[in-house]
This record gives sequence, C-alpha cells and structure tokens, in this order.
Amino acid sequence: MSRHEVIVDLAERSYPIIVGPGVSREVVGFLPSAAKRAVIVTQDGLPTIDLAGVPSTTVYIGRGEEHKTLATVEELCRAFAGFGLTRNDVIVAVGGGMVTDVAGFAASMWHRGTAVVHVATSLVAMVDAAIGGKTGVNIFEGKNLLGAFWQPDAVLCDLDHLASLPAAETRCGWGEVAKYHFISGQDMLAMDLDERVATCVRIKAEIVSADERDAGARALLNYGHTLGHAIETVTRHSVAHGEAVAMGLVFAARLAHRLGRIDWNRVQRHHEVVGQEYGLAVKPSGPLDVNALMVAMARDKKATAGLTFVLDSPRGLEVVAGIDPDIVSSVLVEYLAP
Ligand code: GLY
Repeated sequence: MSRHEVIVDLAERSYPIIVGPGVSREVVGFLPSAAKRAVIVTQDGLPTIDLAGVPSTTVYIGRGEEHKTLATVEELCRAFAGFGLTRNDVIVAVGGGMVTDVAGFAASMWHRGTAVVHVATSLVAMVDAAIGGKTGVNIFEGKNLLGAFWQPDAVLCDLDHLASLPAAETRCGWGEVAKYHFISGQDMLAMDLDERVATCVRIKAEIVSADERDAGARALLNYGHTLGHAIETVTRHSVAHGEAVAMGLVFAARLAHRLGRIDWNRVQRHHEVVGQEYGLAVKPSGPLDVNALMVAMARDKKATAGLTFVLDSPRGLEVVAGIDPDIVSSVLVEYLAP
C-alpha cells in the first residue's frame, strides 16, 4: 500500500489529506507551528497517538450517537478550559466520524475557533466525515441539526487502523464508498484499498474545494442520505450511518425510476452494487413506520422546498427539490414491503 496526498483547495485555508499505512505517526508535522499544547479528543479503545513531546491531555467521549450532543461539546470545552488550551493551540481528534464531528464542532466554538487536526480511524471518517469541515451534533428531532463549517488543518487516514475495525464499522464505510461509485461512475472495486480510499478522498476534496458551504455540487455527497438519515433517526441509530446510506441509495434509485428519470436496469445496478458488490443490506430488515420516516425526511437540512432528494439521471446525479410527498411515501411503502 502506498502513501497518497490530496489537497482540499480553499485558498489560505487549504489543507492536506494523507492516506496510507502508518500515516498517523506523522501527526506532529501537521500541528500548527504556533501550537504549544494539544488536547486529544478520542474514545475508549481507539488507537493512541504520540505527539512527540508536545504537552497534551486526552479527553474521552462516550460511544454511541446518544453522546453526540451539545452536552458532550460542553464537557469538552470545560476540559479545554481546565487544561488551559489557548486559541493558538490545537485539538487533535482521533476517531471515527462521531469524534471528528463533535471535536470539530467544539474546535469551531472554542475561543471562537481553534485549530483541529483529524486522525481518522474508521473508513467512514476517512472517505467522508473527517473531510470538508462539516461538524455538528444531534438533537432529539434529528441528526446533525446543530453544527458549523470548520475546516481542519489536516486529515490523516491511517490505513493500518482499518485492520482492527469491527466488521459493522467496515460495512458502514462501504456504504459511503458505494455512494462514490454513483457520484463518480468509477468502478472502485477493482482498486487496492489505498487507491480506493484515496479515490474517494480525491472526489470529496474536489467537491468541497468547489463548494465549501454546500450551496451546489456538495449536495451530491448526500446521495442516499435523505432516507438514510431518516432510517437512522427512526431506528434511534440501531441502523448505523453507512448501512442506512446504502439503503438510501437503493431507495433513491427506486424513486428516480418512479419519477421517470432512470430505467429499471439502472435501479438493478444500485441493487447489485450495494447488495452484491459491497455486501450490504438493500433495505431495513424489520418493519419501519412510513409516517415517521416521512416526518424525519421533511426535517432534512436540504429540505428547503418540500422533500428534496439527490436523484440519478442519464446526465448523472442531480438535486431535486419539491418532490410530491405522496409519490415518496408510495415508493417507500413498496420499497419496505417484505
Ligand atoms: N457528508 C456530506 C458532506 O460532507 O457534505
């Protein structure tokens, strides 16, 4: 496996994403030169990192979406205060998407903005969550409804960390990778792991560089996420993010077909990529409440004009707003049928 370097190009806020085995050992080289101290934010049981003499403390956050809250952000900020972290210092987030989202959000607010370096340890964080500066926490009404854009100074994707990832977390990562399959049209299954992760990172870096604030092309990264987020919310996260996104890809294809945008072969291709090539479930295993899913989808952050989905077409993916809820719910009933 080789080392890959990809740049998110945001002028003076540009930053590198490093992909490869053992790259987390390079972390000190990516801390801001003015930083004298660091707070490492992580979770119990995750790989440790060595900041080579930079004075630091480690703060642990709980596992599970129920800890992805403002209360956790407040606890982090109180720990920053206790350690005397200044605005010139740095927060190092070591973990999956939950850790990078929560630590990134705390970094965006600590002294109105403090540097953060992400050391992504899960596949989801490497190919999606840690890149692009979206940070945030959940509230009862939905996932990531509170948040801020706060770009990291660097993202390190250490492929050695994937070897010890639980199978369920790896499956989640493949859900996000399957998304890139449809965004880019590239068949990534033939690639080695390092090239596959680097390809996803390159696609995301390019999109974020073009549309940092999610005003256009970046919305395409949400392919599969409208129903995906709703499944996570309605199941209280017993279906994990990447697995829910994978189901959302299949549902979005079925909706696109109902709207006359793609033919049935293309829907079948979604089933094949998700179900056979990436070995993921194409729909929830148990019954789900269609009304609850509809309510959750209406609360989606992209839903500024009725129900909004990213949908496939012969021209590629497009954001489609104002979709008739009756059509969505009828496709949903059909999709969820045993
Ligand atoms: N995860 C979608 C985005 O970063 O825009």
